[in-house]
Amino acid sequence: MTEPSATFLLFGATGDLARRMIFPSLYNLLSDDLLPDDFLIIASGRTEMADEAFRDEVCAALKQFLPADRYDSDIATRFRTMIIYQPVDSSNGAHFAELAERVDGRLERGISVYLSTPPSLFGPTAQGLADAGLITPKTRIAMEKPIGKDLESSKVVNDSIGHLFAEEQIFRVDHYLGKETVQNLLALRFGNLMFEPLWNATGIDHVQITVAETVGLEGRVSYYDGVGALRDMVQNHILQILSIITMEPPARMDPTAVRDEKVKALRSLRPMTAETVKTHSVRGQYTPGAVGGQIVTGYADELGQPSDTETFVALKAYIDNWRWQGVPFYLRTGKRLPARQSEIMIQFKPVRHSIFGRDGQHSGGGSGLEPNTLIIRLQPEEYIRLLIMSKRPGLEQQVHLEEVTLDVSLTAAFAGQRRRIAYERLILDLLAGNQTLFVRRDEVEAQWAWIDSIIDGWKEAHMKVSPYSSGNWGPSSAIALIERDGASWHD
Ligand code: BG6
Repeated sequence: MTEPSATFLLFGATGDLARRMIFPSLYNLLSDDLLPDDFLIIASGRTEMADEAFRDEVCAALKQFLPADRYDSDIATRFRTMIIYQPVDSSNGAHFAELAERVDGRLERGISVYLSTPPSLFGPTAQGLADAGLITPKTRIAMEKPIGKDLESSKVVNDSIGHLFAEEQIFRVDHYLGKETVQNLLALRFGNLMFEPLWNATGIDHVQITVAETVGLEGRVSYYDGVGALRDMVQNHILQILSIITMEPPARMDPTAVRDEKVKALRSLRPMTAETVKTHSVRGQYTPGAVGGQIVTGYADELGQPSDTETFVALKAYIDNWRWQGVPFYLRTGKRLPARQSEIMIQFKPVRHSIFGRDGQHSGGGSGLEPNTLIIRLQPEEYIRLLIMSKRPGLEQQVHLEEVTLDVSLTAAFAGQRRRIAYERLILDLLAGNQTLFVRRDEVEAQWAWIDSIIDGWKEAHMKVSPYSSGNWGPSSAIALIERDGASWHD
């Protein structure tokens, strides 16, 4: 393992993500003693500001976004002395020269650059760094999504970084990969013997992935409109989850082995067409309604004009390979849904032969023989539930079966552990140069290739958004999408 970078250079340091996630994560790493000695954070934004004024802003953000029992004024005092602020306009070469002066003498110990800026600034920023002599083999660069809005534009963004950095130096962030529960999918699949033999088309009937949010636009109009739920959530987070659930077992837990297997799964996604999108996809947009007892306005009202951007999407996907042939993957995500809830539901096949009665229905009434179901709740709670059939206690001649739950609360099982911000793991791995939880270029491109097929299908089929009242699980066509196959969404 190489020495961790001793300098963290953050572009977009005055932005929302920096205040909410990145500084609180760095603070937590300091308080857990996980940062290298003599660590320096160079924060950079377009605004002119003195070091002290910026440090005050960071401390205000820590107080606002850390849980009250996490904020410690002694640690905060140490933290602020690690931060300096350097204004940089990415089109101004002189600014990069000033930046280089502040980096002075630290290049040898490695720099991790973090781009939390709009993607249009990725290329100019990388070029500015190169011109100022700040790129060495020990410089790493991390970037936030969106990486393009389709395959072609993602190639342009990747090229703008890729001609200055080798792929081993590039860390594409998908914050879902920093979540403990998403990493735990690897542990569940490959740290246990019992699931893998059934984890295929022979054992599994279908899979559902739901990432539901209660929030609406949250002031992100300029980013979100024209992007929509498919690009904002499915292209990255949901496809990353899907790739972890469906990939072949990697030979070892290293960046190449893991990402090689993920990309193979992503490349096996069956492209959609103008014909299949009609039955395999639903686009929705929220209208006024109530979420959690609060009356909320519709998307078009928040935007101030009508729009055809989807805030909800449901898909039926197939992975055309040996393991998954014929297994439908139902994916859905949306804003202004009834609950914030992300989960994976694996529906196993029914038992081959029921000894309790015909067609899986045991005689004598009561519930039928239900297939096993595995539910992996990613957030807000973290649990794994396995629904199995059990005999109802009693002396009746006929056996009565009932579904019972094997329930593992991960929060309770690891009660002494603090719930970490996803970015803590990712920043630590960036500093250490471990790319396992970052997205490789070929993965991004495979993700876009599939998303493009859906967007092209929508255009060709003239598929407009269907309205749904806020506080509902999307348009009724989303329910029909799965019920046509004799299944139903797990709510
Ligand atoms: C972001 C999307 O990537 O993920 C947002 O741009 C979304 O629209 C967010 O709200 C959800 O993240 P989390 O961690 O709250 O599930």
